[in-house]
Amino acid sequence: MVTAPEGSIGRVVIGAEELAQRVRELGAAITADYQGRPPLLVGVLKGAYVFMADLAREIDLPVEFDFMAVSSYGESTQSSGVVRIVKDLETDISGRDVILVEDIVDSGLTLRYLRQLLGDREPASLEICALLVREGAQTDDVKFFGFPIPPDFVVGYGLDVAEHYRELDSIMVFDPA
Ligand code: IMP
Ligand code: MG
Repeated sequence: MVTAPEGSIGRVVIGAEELAQRVRELGAAITADYQGRPPLLVGVLKGAYVFMADLAREIDLPVEFDFMAVSSYGESTQSSGVVRIVKDLETDISGRDVILVEDIVDSGLTLRYLRQLLGDREPASLEICALLVREGAQTDDVKFFGFPIPPDFVVGYGLDVAEHYRELDSIMVFDPA
């Protein structure tokens, strides 16, 4: 039997229009920075896929796509502290200008792990583009980010709780029961 996660959807934190506007700005900033060296966008599945689809269409350069899947949370809303590669890249990134596209930087653990892993493969450059950054998270190495986000667990626009609510077009609070 398929069951919905225990809890309910609360207030809208970032609405669809606000998301679209900010994604346009991020696309413009990347377009300006990457003239003459079109980037390879590396999306972190599954949470980043909605953001990356919209972002790519706001970048006025011939971008390429690849994806990685990592698992760090399982089905809970708490970090397990363990990052595991579920799917690796298909592209050789050595000499490439790589932008790692993330849904949210929370503890920063996933990002630290991926930055190290991809950095070891000797890309020409490696930058991070994260839609959301948890307030108080360390953001020095996040070159492009959309919005700071309060401590509440959020869903929508690609973000899930136990695989639910990724399809919502706004970022909304999820209140566990
Ligand atoms: P970090 O390793 O703690 O930075 O966690 C990063 C990952 O945790 C993100 O890519 C998300 O998949 C997940 N995550 C963290 N906070 C939230 C949230 O509020 N909603 C949904 N997923 C979250
Ligand atoms: Mg996730």
